[in-house]
This record gives sequence, structure tokens and C-alpha cells, in this order.
Amino acid sequence: MTRCDVLVLGAGIAGCVAAIRAADLGADVVLVAKDALGMTNTSWAQGGIIGLPGEAEHDSPSLLAADIEAAGAGLCRHEAVHLLAEEGPKLCRDFLWSRLGVPFDQDPKGDPDPTKEAAHSAKRIYHAKDATGLAIQHTLNHAVSQHPRIRVLENRMLVDLLTLPHHAADPLQVYDPLHVWGAYLFDESDGGVTTVIAKRTVLATGGLGYLYQHTTNPSSATGDGLAAAYRATARIVNCEYIQFHPTALYVPGKPRMLLTEALRGEGAHLVNRKGERFMQKYAPEHMELAPRDVVSRAIFQELAISGEASVYLDLRPLKAKLDIEAHFPTVYAACVAEGLDPLRQPIPVVPAAHYFCGGVLVDLDGRTSLPGLYAAGEVACTGLHGANRLASTSLLEGLLWGHRAADAIRPELPLTVAPEAHQFAVWQPPVESMEAEEPDPLLVDQDWNLIRTTLWNYAGIIRSAARLERGRADMGYLYHRIERFYREAPLSRSLLELRSAIICARLILKAALLNRESRGCHYRVD
Ligand code: SIN
Repeated sequence: MTRCDVLVLGAGIAGCVAAIRAADLGADVVLVAKDALGMTNTSWAQGGIIGLPGEAEHDSPSLLAADIEAAGAGLCRHEAVHLLAEEGPKLCRDFLWSRLGVPFDQDPKGDPDPTKEAAHSAKRIYHAKDATGLAIQHTLNHAVSQHPRIRVLENRMLVDLLTLPHHAADPLQVYDPLHVWGAYLFDESDGGVTTVIAKRTVLATGGLGYLYQHTTNPSSATGDGLAAAYRATARIVNCEYIQFHPTALYVPGKPRMLLTEALRGEGAHLVNRKGERFMQKYAPEHMELAPRDVVSRAIFQELAISGEASVYLDLRPLKAKLDIEAHFPTVYAACVAEGLDPLRQPIPVVPAAHYFCGGVLVDLDGRTSLPGLYAAGEVACTGLHGANRLASTSLLEGLLWGHRAADAIRPELPLTVAPEAHQFAVWQPPVESMEAEEPDPLLVDQDWNLIRTTLWNYAGIIRSAARLERGRADMGYLYHRIERFYREAPLSRSLLELRSAIICARLILKAALLNRESRGCHYRVD
């Protein structure tokens, strides 16, 4: 049993910033990482983060807000957009650059040197070559490890949020109002479950891209926080809005690595096997710079017509204006590692699930509908992205809401007394697992395959009622199988992830089925 003021679940940008800010303000913080510190989706982010533009650049909060709203297809929450446009870029500069020292690429004067990206009206993107997320994550890791008021727990997985009355020792507490008081955590090293009691809990567990057969996300993106919040009855919204990135490297049998949008921003062409720039047919005005959902659908349709496994991203037009290897070292190295030379040949690409625009509903300070629970980053839905997300807004959203959540929590701490340990039930394995046997890995793999192919085929880039209904029925059946697993097998990370995945899969399918209107990244042919 551990006690703290603030429990932060998740150690990407949102979680680390919430932890650092809360600790800076005097709170005693426990920060939980699902893997070793630093192995997060944040560290995979290639594109940048919106910061303050250069002095000579014409930009303003209203220009930025207009770009975000245009991407969001009429579904953005205006207050969230205006808050981020007003406060976000300054916080990026003050907190990440000045306070923590993230090594963004610099101009000759030693200031961050912002670049422009597709669908942005100004040069406002801070970046560290094509590995911005990694640079940010390294800096955050250092800051949290050094902070005297942050305890980091690595390789711990969220089992459930600790709520009263759900987890009360005294059945009479069933009459009390619901409150989140921390979490149960699974420790991979010894298979045990520990209880962390906290005055406030911040959910920053990231997204769920791994539920899709093709994804730019790491295999840890299994929707654990969303599923736990759902079980604890938090309000969850916009689950149908899954953003697909048009260009992930296609190598059969290998994970789909992101090939950053900045490549198309700099002039890379999308071509089919015959070398034709097929975007001419789908978006003649904007070509490769059309919104992500338009480009992803165009590729999807092109593949359906041709029967091919991939289209191609041709980087050779960039050679005349920049040094590809120096400018995009991550992309270049990934291609070369697969025996592909981007200076000489088009690179095979497919669209892939990239970002979850929905999530646990929060207010402008990251408060969820459950007392005691805050959320920030991809697991949260601030309303900023609406039905589709503008590139390079996600790291900034995590930064701003992580920071604001910590600010909002600070004055609440002296007024809060967390319950004593004896008021909570000690975590027990699900009843039937006392005599449990390890689950057959083949069955677990097959369940994962089913979830990932079902979501890709039925709740993917192009959806219909018939597909979604089939997916819902199949996942409904699988849910019962997995629940049985959960009751019959000893607790393990793979089982916990499977339990998260099936809950999230059902949330996505249900939301996509109920919403008949194509908007942003939710596209229905019917
Ligand atoms: C990219 O670099 O293309 C991804 C950036 C983002 O999704 O914000």
C-alpha cells in the first residue's frame, strides 16, 4: 500500500508534465510508467509541437484557432481551442524550452527555429529534426527522475481505478457518493497487485492505436486508461473519431512505422505502382497536402482498385531542396534498415491508425465526470480536436492539460483527506482464478488478431452499418470469452491488455454505429 497526494498514471508528455508541475507546487507525487520510463507513444512522435512563432512571422491565436477548427470539421469545443491557442504556444516555450531545456532545433541566434506544416497558416512548429517526441521525452525523463517529490514506479500496469464505494471494505458505503482515490497496479516483476491511495488521480495513459491491425502506435497503446475509466463509470465521448495517418512504412510482417507528414509538407509525392500521382483524382486542389482523412481514404480506395498491398511515397522530389538524411534521420534510417533507399526509390506506404480523438471527457482543467479523477493527453477528450486533429497539436494538448490539471489540483489538496487503508477492500484476484492456469498464448494471440482485424476492416477508414453491426456482434461474443479468461487465468499483463482492448473495441464500434453522419475521420459509405 502506497499513499501520496497525486497519483499520475502514464509517463508520456501529459503524465510527466502533470507530475513535474504538481511536484513543483509542493505535492508528493507518484508517477506510474507501464514500461520502463521513456517507452511511451510520446517518444515515437516525429512531427513537432506548436510553439511561439518567430518574431518576423505573421501569426496569432485566432489564426491558430482557425486552423484547429478547420481540421476539426465543426465539432471542436471552442473554449478548448481558444484556450490552447492563447496559452499553449507560450507554455511550450516557457516550460519545455526555458524551464526544462528541450533541445529543439535552433536558429543562428539560439532561439527555437519553428517550421511550417501542412494545414498550418504560419511557421509555428518547434521540432527536433524528425524525432521531436523523443527529445521531449528524454528531457521529461530526466526531470521526473531528478525531482525530489516524484516517486517513479516503472513496469506497473493499471488494473482498476480505486473508487469508493466500488472498492469499499464496508458495504454500508454503497450509499456514499462516488469518488476516485487512486488505483490498483499490477507489478510485472512479481505478479502482485499494489494499492496506491491518492487524494487526486491523473489519468494520462495514452491512446489505443494498437487495437488496429495497422497502426503507427507502439504495442503498449491498448486503451488501458479508457477502459478503466469506463469501468469506473466516467463519461466517455467521441469514440468513433479515430485518426488514420496516410503514410506508415509498409514492410510485410513488420510494425508500421510513421513516415512523418512533414515529408509531404516538403514536397514528397504519393504515387501508385505505375508511378502516377493518384491524388490528382481525389483532391486535385491540395494533392498530397489534403487533410489526413482525405488522403487516407484516397489511398484506401486506390488499393481497393489496384489490389496492391501498398502505394508509394516518393521522396526524390525533396533532393533538390534539402539533405534528406540530415533533415529526416529517423525516417531515412528506418527505410535503410529495411533495405529501401529513399534517395533512389519510392517507399511503400499504407494508412494506419494514428490518434484517438475521443476519450474521457474533461473540462478546461482536466477534470473528469468522476470526483477525484483528472485526465490529460490522448486518453482524455478536451474537445480540442473535434472530429479530426490538426497535426502537431497532440503534444501541446498533453502539455497544456497536464500542466493545468496540476494547477487545478493544487488548491484542492489541503482540503482533502484521503480515506484510511482499512476503508478499502484488499485487491483480490477474480474468484475463479484461485486454481488458475496460464492462458494458452495461442488463444490470446488469436483474440488479439480478431480485435485488430475487426476494427481495421469494420471500424476503419471507410465504415458502413453492415460492417459495424458485424463487428459489434463479433466483439460482443469475444468480450464474454475474454471475461472468462480474466476470471480463470492468473493476472498477467497480456490478459489485462486484452481486457482493456475488448472494452475499447466495443466502445468504438458502438459509437461508430450510432453516428450516421460522416464527419472528419468518421466516414460512413451509407
Ligand atoms: C507526423 O509527423 O506526421 C505526425 C504528427 C502528428 O500526428 O501530429
